[in-house]
Amino acid sequence: MTIGKYGKTDRKEGLCHMAFPQSFLDELIARSDIVDVVGSYVQLTRKGANLFGLCPFHSEKTGSFSVSPDKQIYYCFGCKRGGGVVNFIMEEENLPFPDAVRFLAKRAGLEVPEEDGDREAGRRRQRLLDLNRDAARFYYQLLQQPEGQAVQDYLARRRITRRTAVKFGMGASLDAWDVLLTAMTKKGYTKTELLEAGLVVQNRNGGLYDKFRNRLMLPVIDTRGDVVAFGSRVLDKSEPKYMNSSETPVYSKRRVLYGLNLAKKSKRSNIILCEGNLDIVTLHQAGFDNAVASMGTALTVEQTRLLSRFTKELVLCYDNDNAGKIATERALQILNNSEFSVKVLQLPRRLVDGEYVKQDADDFIKFQGPDAFERLLNGSENGTEFRMAQVAGKYDLANDESRIAYCEEISDFLAGLSNAVEREIYTTRAAEAAKITPEAMKLEVQRAFKRRISRERRAELRKDLNPAAQRQPKERTLRYENVRSARAEEGILRLLLLDDSLFPPDPPIQEEQFSSPLLGRAFAALWQARSCGRPVAIATLTGLFSPEEMSHLTSVCQQPESVQNARQALTDYIRIIQTEAAKRSGGVNADPLLAAAEKYKDKKGTGGKQHG
Ligand code: CTP
Ligand code: MN
Repeated sequence: MTIGKYGKTDRKEGLCHMAFPQSFLDELIARSDIVDVVGSYVQLTRKGANLFGLCPFHSEKTGSFSVSPDKQIYYCFGCKRGGGVVNFIMEEENLPFPDAVRFLAKRAGLEVPEEDGDREAGRRRQRLLDLNRDAARFYYQLLQQPEGQAVQDYLARRRITRRTAVKFGMGASLDAWDVLLTAMTKKGYTKTELLEAGLVVQNRNGGLYDKFRNRLMLPVIDTRGDVVAFGSRVLDKSEPKYMNSSETPVYSKRRVLYGLNLAKKSKRSNIILCEGNLDIVTLHQAGFDNAVASMGTALTVEQTRLLSRFTKELVLCYDNDNAGKIATERALQILNNSEFSVKVLQLPRRLVDGEYVKQDADDFIKFQGPDAFERLLNGSENGTEFRMAQVAGKYDLANDESRIAYCEEISDFLAGLSNAVEREIYTTRAAEAAKITPEAMKLEVQRAFKRRISRERRAELRKDLNPAAQRQPKERTLRYENVRSARAEEGILRLLLLDDSLFPPDPPIQEEQFSSPLLGRAFAALWQARSCGRPVAIATLTGLFSPEEMSHLTSVCQQPESVQNARQALTDYIRIIQTEAAKRSGGVNADPLLAAAEKYKDKKGTGGKQHG
């Protein structure tokens, strides 16, 4: 039996290399008890055979995160993420498979046998980081020299001091085509490396030129202190205003926040999230050294996970224009019900020549000063207040009809608040806004609450009616083609994991007969482990499957499977899979030639089966 993806390298991010010897991985997993490892991140309480706690991967207030000491798996019933101990570290520490293995090895006091391929990948990454650092140094030095005058002037216009520029490692790229290219080539970096780092670009004739020219350079530094990318700004009004590094092997913009390398050291208890790089620079300069920016992209889940290592209090300070409002709303959705307490700092618009214009944090500090910003920070409203104001803003509350519509929408929103005290407080406030009695508003909210509950119950019911559909994997690529067969395939996997002595020495079923390629691969991998006398466990699969695939396999294996009727169940499962596989192969009857061959086999008694 062959294992489909065995030994291949990253098909996509998160899929692993099998550079470590299997025996080492087995020992590592055996020495990294999942309860110990998870327990050092999450507070766990025992309930029956499992332990429960608050899920570290999605935001929640009730514990849907479970750990099974017997199966050595974790699984969250809320966000449906799960896996073995190595998956947990990959998720929690934001590390690719090999790094998560190294991380656990260090914890367990095991020495890591490195293999060539792996060392090579690590070396390449390090080369890119070195190149980025050298480029940052080069831009930095240019800024101090006469050639950097244009950028220096720009910094002066933006009132950025030399000290701040140094703190952020700012630099200058020149109005020329190959200054960086030449300098870095001289230092021994290859064309491939320069291209891979995104510092140079290739023209149609294959010639290379500097990507960043005549710009203020803003190195993006991660929390480890590595220069992973560059942001940059033009010095005049031309476009594009900002130009950032493309994604590279060392830079994924979803996982980085500009300024977090500095903000993580701040003495302030919260972190301020802004839109722009220069907002961050100005804020730090004004004493708000807890500001970070997502560099023009919406806040991502990966970024919130990163932030949660340093604070549990966030202040959203996006621009006060429409785009900023949308960004705030999206961020609030991501942070909804999270462990973070979230506030929204709304910057006022500024009156210029009789017209109100948008201001960002940078403008505000410039015109109003740091003290005014501090006051806004202290008085900033929480997420609920912000969203209520958004709803109120849609209606003309002087108009009766419009007030009724407002009451309907706001009561629906209030009914969704999970905290009863919060619900009470804001119900009163909404009543004030709508100019009705608090009692009337309370009734509205109760009615909305009932509507909500019955809506949810109906949805639950629909799920119950169709349990198979309910357990379909979320990812489209993991969907089951044949649910009947897949159920049986899931059962086989559970039995194999539960008690592999139920199985004969030879595989009773082949990977090819599985309707779900994922379940088939998992079976093959587990079977292979079994035939080598290795542990048959979910945790040993991490290296072979993507995190999404692992989550699905874990969800399969945490479902109940009866040991009592295991033998009978095994026979039934095998029969179902075989029948469905036969149907799928078109039925033997579909192909007359095949049918004849099958008949012939039957006559000779070589175990061919009659279908139909
Ligand atoms: N941005 C980007 N690419 C653009 C425009 C913007 O990556 N073409 C990102 C930058 O990180 C920028 C942020 O989005 O800092 C906010 O953009 P914007 O509000 O347009 O600029 P400001 O930050 O106000 O920039 P400045 O004050 O320098 O004009
Ligand atoms: Mn600005």
